[in-house]
Amino acid sequence: MPNEQPIGIFDSGFGGLTVARAVMDLLPSENVVYFGDTDRYPYGPRPLSEVRDFAIQITNYLIREHDVKLLVVACNTAAAAALEDLATLVAVPIVGVISPGAQAAVDVSQSGRIGVIGTVGTINSGSYERAFQEISVQDIELSCLACPGFVEFVEKGESSGEQLLVLAERLLAPIIAADVDTLLLGCTHYPYLARVIGHVVGKEVVLVSSADETAFAVADSLKEMNLTTTDEKLGKRMFISSGDVSWFAEVGQRLFGPELESAHPHEWNPLP
Ligand code: DGL
Repeated sequence: MPNEQPIGIFDSGFGGLTVARAVMDLLPSENVVYFGDTDRYPYGPRPLSEVRDFAIQITNYLIREHDVKLLVVACNTAAAAALEDLATLVAVPIVGVISPGAQAAVDVSQSGRIGVIGTVGTINSGSYERAFQEISVQDIELSCLACPGFVEFVEKGESSGEQLLVLAERLLAPIIAADVDTLLLGCTHYPYLARVIGHVVGKEVVLVSSADETAFAVADSLKEMNLTTTDEKLGKRMFISSGDVSWFAEVGQRLFGPELESAHPHEWNPLP
């Protein structure tokens, strides 16, 4: 019964849960295995070649040990580092978050002035410039900005407070100066900081996350490949963390909701 195989979703930590939420809401009958690589977060400051190795290692693990039928790279940094390679290396369909996010931002923007914020790795990779070029809408003025430090707040379980506000005011000044009407949260951790980010950039700026558009891409891909589950009951959800599993369950439950009751441990052998 191949259609009952789970969808695999991974991120460096809690961020991909924003995408998992959208996938589960859109496709409630699908079984889902979520992997948070919390032992090795943050990915953002690491060289892309290292993040690429992590992404390949997690992908192989999810295919071999959990028999996933489709993989969602729910991390912009990992998608920037490895999406193209993964698509050629493995047989299961792969869905990333960068193109869906760019499409969502184009759909929303009226003025064509779009901001994108993400990790240093994602922004320096130029992946968003390429994704917007591929959509090829005329007159897009893109302002891409790295926001080092945001991910660490989410991983600490903090999504408000004075320190975060001060950091957001300092980091987001160029976005305010660029007078964008749409701000794409190009890191899957950032929707958890949306209240602070929205407060700093002002309510005229529409915040866009890639989560919903990615979930639609997952649904389309499953349908196209004839992989949609035929089961009608609520899918099973499994959460795995390479770090401290009790911390993952505690913070994850706060961010994601009560379904994240517990997390299974996974320990990596060192990469060759
Ligand atoms: N959620 C990952 C992303 O979308 C985050 C990053 C990190 O670990 O730095 O890029």
